[in-house]
Amino acid sequence: MNQDALKQAVAQAALAYVPEGEIIGVGTGSTANFFIDGLAAMKDRIVGAVASSEASAQRLAGHGIRLFDLNEVDALSVYVDGADEIDAGFAMIKGGGAALTREKIVASVAQRFVCIADASKLVEVLGRFPLPVEVIPLARAQVARELQALGGRPVWREGVVTDNGNVILDVHGLEIRDPVMLESLLNQIVGVVTNGLFARRPADVLLLGTAQGVQQRVRGG
Ligand code: A5P
Repeated sequence: MNQDALKQAVAQAALAYVPEGEIIGVGTGSTANFFIDGLAAMKDRIVGAVASSEASAQRLAGHGIRLFDLNEVDALSVYVDGADEIDAGFAMIKGGGAALTREKIVASVAQRFVCIADASKLVEVLGRFPLPVEVIPLARAQVARELQALGGRPVWREGVVTDNGNVILDVHGLEIRDPVMLESLLNQIVGVVTNGLFARRPADVLLLGTAQGVQQRVRGG
């Protein structure tokens, strides 16, 4: 099975986690896109969705799925999204698609985070995938210096502007042994909007696409 087939399989499996008659949180990226396409087939059984990016919003709307602004919603029982890396404790690196800030916000409202990922995303230690950090444009050079002082090698993702009008620094060369601590530390740097570590609020369920089929893993289970 190629990577796309694995992504499609986990996206399909995630449909079982979609509660009927509710609004659900929807992530961003190629795996999330497969999920959105699958959701289209059951759109009459949900009320609608909150999207974590303009791209996902457009795809959802294209399927005729009603969109809700997060401010209109008190709670979400489920949020479904992909990851760039995920470890055994279900901490993740996200933001390869530059949507990390809205993803983290929508995920924070959800009771259950269902991560859909092909097997290549499961790692022992986070950090081989460069850690995305969303930064206020004015602060780019200063934040880059701070990230360097922490031992990383930040690279400006030139030409990319996030949905929030900010820029992305991808931090290479990190071996993230304590993702909760690093997530908090990076949040303290003035000018950082969000960092791509999702460790303080990790996934609850991992649907992992392998050649042998979709494995369902539950955090702490
Ligand atoms: C978007 O900003 C990211 O957080 C994605 O969720 C992540 O990059 C996974 O993307 P793919 O499903 O395309 O691998």
